[in-house]
Amino acid sequence: MKGKRFVFAKHFDGVPKKSDFELVEEEVPPVKDGEVLFQALFISVDPYMRPYSARIQTGTTMIGEQVARVVESKHPGYKVGDNVVAYFGWRTHTVLNPDKNINPLDNKPSKPYILPDFGGVSLSTALGVLGMPGNTAYFGLTKLCEPKPGEVLVVNGAAGAVGSLVGQIGKILGLRVIGFAGSDDKVKLLKEKYNFDAAFNYKTKDVTEALKEAAPEGVDCFFDNVGGVMSSAIISCMKLYGRIAVCGSISAYNDDPKKPTLAPIIQPSMIFKQLKMEGFVVSRWLNIWQEGIAQNLQYIKEGKLKYEETVYEGFEKIFDAFIGLFKGENTGKAVVKI
Ligand SMILES: NC(=O)c1ccc[n+]([C@@H]2O[C@H](COP(=O)([O-])OP(=O)(O)OC[C@H]3O[C@@H](n4cnc5c(N)ncnc54)[C@H](OP(=O)(O)O)[C@@H]3O)[C@@H](O)[C@H]2O)c1
Repeated sequence: MKGKRFVFAKHFDGVPKKSDFELVEEEVPPVKDGEVLFQALFISVDPYMRPYSARIQTGTTMIGEQVARVVESKHPGYKVGDNVVAYFGWRTHTVLNPDKNINPLDNKPSKPYILPDFGGVSLSTALGVLGMPGNTAYFGLTKLCEPKPGEVLVVNGAAGAVGSLVGQIGKILGLRVIGFAGSDDKVKLLKEKYNFDAAFNYKTKDVTEALKEAAPEGVDCFFDNVGGVMSSAIISCMKLYGRIAVCGSISAYNDDPKKPTLAPIIQPSMIFKQLKMEGFVVSRWLNIWQEGIAQNLQYIKEGKLKYEETVYEGFEKIFDAFIGLFKGENTGKAVVKI
């Protein structure tokens, strides 16, 4: 049997190019005692892959999480038909001893996790609302923004995997939610499907003007997915004692590190409005990971949390899916169906 994988062939220079990857087809090795053969069902593409790529060695399989099914097992903990979520990278087939799998992001052991029955919810959600992005939204908002009912929450990247959940969880918690996204269709979705109180297309509407209209008294909580000029503008509109959760800075991921984006100074707002700003990596909540997933699943079952996926069909489409993140092609979680 043949398997395919994408090798990270060249470090990115600016926007990633298809030629930075090499598609390799190779024989899937036999399964030895203690090993399992996993077949990918869905592969995730995520913005973090761009900044993290600086740490990846060329010649290795491109990093990433996937939902895979056990097709052969010589390991007592895994049986044929089990579905797992695991850091196997951009590959169709993986043969390994699950006890020895290493997550290349932190070089720590990372055992493939056998997924429970999601009760009719697609398995792909283990890469989105019921996985890392869902927990990023849930923990990032609830732990760092300290949201209180009646407060004003702003989120950018608001129609994406994380942002769309942040806004909806904010609504569930009783906040007034304002979102920024990159197209009129996304803005419509935020207002009509996700019930945001206000939403704006940041490509056509000045952010400061938008907040003057939608939050004349100022912003209490800001969940930042974008960074740069837009974030400086939002921070300048915050209220006294506002809280900022710094989740991502996608606007600068493809920048030349020697010529970084310059944005207006935020220190005067930080000082005079006595703001609290904290960056995070979602893995800090690994010890309570399942708590976030259970809560988001509960919200889905109660009809309070909706989600979108942009599904690319076919293993060869991974690059298009990945680059689509930087062009705003996706609405909700971008995944590749294998
Ligand atoms: N800290 C953590 O642990 C953690 C975990 C997960 C994700 N993140 C970060 O959270 C952010 C969102 O991740 P995600 O997985 O939910 O991705 P996503 O929002 O589903 O996809 C990326 C979106 O970013 C927007 N975008 C791209 N380039 C932009 C630019 N120059 N300016 C403004 N917006 C731009 C696009 O939407 P528009 O059409 O609206 O432009 C695009 O659809 C990323 O910054 C990511 O790195 C952090």
